[in-house]
Amino acid sequence: MKNIAVVGVGYVGLVTGACLADLGNRVTCLDISQERIENLKKGILPIFEPGLEEVVRRNVKAGRLWFTTSYADAINGGSGMQPAEFAFIAVGTPSAVDGAADLEHVRAAAESIADVVDHPLVIVNKSTVPVGTGDWVADIVKTKQKQSISFSVVSNPEFLREGSAIHDFMNPDRVVLGSLNREAAEKVAQLHLPLRTTLVITDLRTAEMIKYASNAFLATKISFINEIANICEELGADVKEVATGMGFDKRIGRAFLDAGLGYGGSCFPKDVLALAHMAEVKGRHPQLLQAVMDINGDQRRSILRKVSALLGGELKGKTVGLLGLAFKPNTDDMRDAPSIDLARWLTEQGAKVKGYDPVSMTAAASMMPAGMKFAEDPYELAADCDAIILVTEWNEFKQLDLERVRQSMKTPVLVDGRNVYDSEQMRALGFTYRGIGRGYNDRQ
Ligand SMILES: NC(=O)c1ccc[n+]([C@@H]2O[C@H](COP(=O)([O-])OP(=O)(O)OC[C@H]3O[C@@H](n4cnc5c(N)ncnc54)[C@H](O)[C@@H]3O)[C@@H](O)[C@H]2O)c1
Repeated sequence: MKNIAVVGVGYVGLVTGACLADLGNRVTCLDISQERIENLKKGILPIFEPGLEEVVRRNVKAGRLWFTTSYADAINGGSGMQPAEFAFIAVGTPSAVDGAADLEHVRAAAESIADVVDHPLVIVNKSTVPVGTGDWVADIVKTKQKQSISFSVVSNPEFLREGSAIHDFMNPDRVVLGSLNREAAEKVAQLHLPLRTTLVITDLRTAEMIKYASNAFLATKISFINEIANICEELGADVKEVATGMGFDKRIGRAFLDAGLGYGGSCFPKDVLALAHMAEVKGRHPQLLQAVMDINGDQRRSILRKVSALLGGELKGKTVGLLGLAFKPNTDDMRDAPSIDLARWLTEQGAKVKGYDPVSMTAAASMMPAGMKFAEDPYELAADCDAIILVTEWNEFKQLDLERVRQSMKTPVLVDGRNVYDSEQMRALGFTYRGIGRGYNDRQ
């Protein structure tokens, strides 16, 4: 049993803290948000993540999981908490205006740790941070600490996916650990031994780069298949079948080859942008990354053109329903969700917008244009709609009573931004249906 502090209790921090506690460690989760911590102490979670509430409850009950806003207590022990041997930093690193990762939260976390630490500590950076940040964190701690305490910095990038975060944390494809101090990396490796996974131990900068390169590659797969989808649409091939046919090739793989509205969320958009920025700062021209971002932006815009064409070229005065708002299923995360752009553009073109999502409507409310209406369920959403765009492929949308949906609509136009439905079936039900890159299937 190790004593661990986790700094930042968002998607990554809370999952990391809860899972490390579940592996038998004593974990103190720290956040600067008083409200988050007070709620967590009452068992109220700041995010929706399947299975997380149960893991948090179990470990709080077992006395292995604590919540605090006090750096002194989390790092040095106090108020029932133990001095931490490891401090995981899992604060946000959003995009700054120039596209670089904004490291203000990382800086603040490093300074706060340095300010209180009174014993040797391994600082583990879980936030996605530009290459070189580990060295920068080490400099901050060294210059800010009040007494000379030995410490090491280890980069341990996180690869979990929202929506399956607990499973991903507990069953990782690999754990990456980077440090200039091998002994410190091995100490962090020990924490991960129960996961029985491959450990990749590198230097600090290489570990940081593995995270960016991995996310950029996955985003590239998505933009690649979207480009293929657009060509399929012109030439009459069906991109779903194309992806299946490609995916059997082990060198390619089927994952992340789903054509649709493109990627969104808190990671891919900002991470591809930040990687391109890192390259540009060094005088490089990251043309592939630029293309990946361009295609992704175009994909959102092209769906609106499709809806507009099906409604006679005019969106003004039309009612359009967005089925699904979260950036992907099984999360309430709305960061960079395609639904935000779609709602804004539709409103700008004079359409009335309605939205429905099983879990993200509270999170979405403040991000959507004024006047947008939220429906109680998919059937209320469909009422009087001139068109529906399926934005998020929640499982519950796969089982809808589509006959009922069509009957409620003013005109039965459904544009499927995630290729969830079967074209033939939709036409048989009387919909004017379009997917993404479905070729002849979309034209019959
Ligand atoms: N969300 C994901 O799926 C995911 C996956 C892999 C990696 N990441 C990376 O992990 C990092 C965290 O992402 P997230 O989605 O969990 O972020 P988040 O915004 O959900 O949570 C960040 C938390 O940090 C807290 N915080 C900010 N400054 C702080 C400080 N100085 N001290 C203590 N707490 C502070 C915030 O209050 C918030 O609760 C990012 O770098 C992200 O790129 C995220």
